[in-house]
Amino acid sequence: MPNFISIKKKIKSFNKNINVDGDKSLSIRWVLFSSIASGVSEAKNLLMSEDVLASINVIKKLGIKVTKNNEYCKIYGKGINGFRYKDNLTLNAKNSGTLGRLILGLIVNTPKKIKLIGDRSLSKRDFKRVALPLSKFGAKFKLNKKFGLPLTIKGSQNLKSIRYNETRGSAQCKSSVIFAGMRTNGKTLIKAKKSRNHTELLCKHLKLPIKIKNKKNFDLIEINKIKNIKQIKYNIPSDISSAAFFIALTALSNKSKILIKKVNVNPSRIGVITILKKMGINIFFKNKNTYKGEAIADIIVKSPKKIKSINCPTYLNSGAIDEFLVIFLVAAKAHGVSYFRNLSELNKKESPRLFWASKILKKIGIKTITTNDSIKIFGNPKLKVNKKIIIKNFLKDHRIFMCCTIAALSFGGNWKIHDKDSIKTSFPSFLKIISNLRK
Ligand code: S3P
Repeated sequence: MPNFISIKKKIKSFNKNINVDGDKSLSIRWVLFSSIASGVSEAKNLLMSEDVLASINVIKKLGIKVTKNNEYCKIYGKGINGFRYKDNLTLNAKNSGTLGRLILGLIVNTPKKIKLIGDRSLSKRDFKRVALPLSKFGAKFKLNKKFGLPLTIKGSQNLKSIRYNETRGSAQCKSSVIFAGMRTNGKTLIKAKKSRNHTELLCKHLKLPIKIKNKKNFDLIEINKIKNIKQIKYNIPSDISSAAFFIALTALSNKSKILIKKVNVNPSRIGVITILKKMGINIFFKNKNTYKGEAIADIIVKSPKKIKSINCPTYLNSGAIDEFLVIFLVAAKAHGVSYFRNLSELNKKESPRLFWASKILKKIGIKTITTNDSIKIFGNPKLKVNKKIIIKNFLKDHRIFMCCTIAALSFGGNWKIHDKDSIKTSFPSFLKIISNLRK
């Protein structure tokens, strides 16, 4: 099978109900929490993507038994101190920043040196951002000079609790410090710029000693030593970051409608919905409920008559951080100029996404003014693409691949998009759902 797709035709109008794959952030967190729980944890609808499989392999290397079939995954946790730290252990986080950064917090007490490696894309990502706070707890790091990986960590049995000011709005840094804070004798205090709060919600659900004060622009989190985590039964809801591709496709199509079932619509994740609604897209929630602290709903989207441009408020950035690529596509078809700023974090993802966004938009004939942390998009409501477009060498970034697929289906042209396999990292069913919509 070739590792690219060719798309030569725009999608026709559709009216469908779909399910997208399980939430990646929650899947990885379930694996990591279950690995230090006491007893057998069980998850349904766990995302079976490469990032989650890498998480499973990492905890297996730490001596934790895992079994899975098509329906369930079971993790046989051995308690807070149940990891087996062998000599010369190497853990491979592959493509996953979330796994790489969170696992360091969990193994901050390792008595033996552990090496952490990742793929080419992860090896270009910044690990100092977690090594710095974790070394304040007492762990010792050796980092590769440029970005961090490969790195080694040697933990401490005498961890000190810390005060940490998280200023990037990174849930990965915040969560890594929460994990480390669970292993100290004192109180760890975190002041964190707003970001997704799945780790905190799971801690609360598990009745762990965490206190959270939500302020307007930041959260104050206090975490204390944990003694025991009960096993966790979890039915993972669908991922809004995966749903976002189909929300955008519907927004860019004519007379189409989609219903995406049981999506995690945690308020810290729905920036994409707030932004697209401001741009005039019809999006509604149905069957809203709460599951283990997480908000769940079916999402309904209808094609709009007109897309409005937006001067995107920066407070929405962190809640939409993984969705900006598709938001930019919608802006490409808007009336007027859209402006997105304070987005330096976008260039620190699986590939430099702001750079790629401007490259893709240029290829489809859209003018942009792009800096290191901002992009102005000159929308064209009549946008049609008629030429051949080849997309490759994007560090196999799954979201670049899927964003280009949505662009091809929405704007037309003759596209060849390489590295199809990249979808396996986060959204293995992506192309199956596309085929179903094209039927
Ligand atoms: C994630 C946090 C975000 C996001 C990533 C998943 C998480 O990264 O981009 O895809 O699950 O905690 P940052 O925390 O670095 O912003």
